[in-house]
Amino acid sequence: MTERTPADRGHPREIVRYTANERTNHWLIAIGFLLAGLSGLALYHPAMSWLYALFGGGPWTRVLHPFFGVFMFVVFVLFAWHMGGSNRLDARDRQWLKQIDDVAAGREEKLPEVGRYNGGQKVLFWLLVLCMLGLLATGIVMWQPWFAPAFPVSIVRLGSVLHAILATVLICLIIFHAYSAFWVKGSMGAMVRGRVTRGWAWKHHREWLREVDRDASAK
Ligand code: HEM
Repeated sequence: MTERTPADRGHPREIVRYTANERTNHWLIAIGFLLAGLSGLALYHPAMSWLYALFGGGPWTRVLHPFFGVFMFVVFVLFAWHMGGSNRLDARDRQWLKQIDDVAAGREEKLPEVGRYNGGQKVLFWLLVLCMLGLLATGIVMWQPWFAPAFPVSIVRLGSVLHAILATVLICLIIFHAYSAFWVKGSMGAMVRGRVTRGWAWKHHREWLREVDRDASAK
């Protein structure tokens, strides 16, 4: 159980971190990521061709993969558009990133107070944006039979190499993202139930908790 803090007096025990719409949007991205990722891995290497069975065989995997990718991109853009404002890096985030050894050792009392997201989450957010844009651009360049014939073959080849690199980076980022979500106790509750305890917010996102309280008392 998370301990109660002096700032808790007179407040409900839990606060809203994500609305139902935000959570639905996030989990649609995760579904899009799994579909695009698994179908992409099946196409990437013969050792992964057993994954074709999930999508109705090789030809269907080839047809469906770009549509899964576009679906993931569209739901990601909706979410990122909404979250962009909370992910602007400031001086406090740069300080937080400089103290990454304190982060890894769990010495949170030494870190600057964190807003809605910490420096690491914000860097990850912008890396995800870059990967998504790069995957869309390179995916369109190699999309047969619709767009690829419009590009010189050298560009299509370069596009396919970059697409594979970006997909590998995205998969690594999401493994790290999901690992951190389980590592920081209480974070999964934020994306599943939409609520966090005040203790969780006080420990990990104290400046955000102060903002939430300021907004509540202004109402
Ligand atoms: C696959 C399993 C996944 C798990 C377990 C997971 C878990 C979570 C959790 C718990 C949060 C809330 C963190 C917080 O509020 O402090 C979150 C936020 C977020 N997730 Fe995921 N997620 C997954 C997949 C994805 C994917 C595939 C993407 C995008 C490609 C994504 C993008 C985001 C973004 C952008 C945020 C908001 C953080 C920010 O704006 O900086 N997640 N996720």
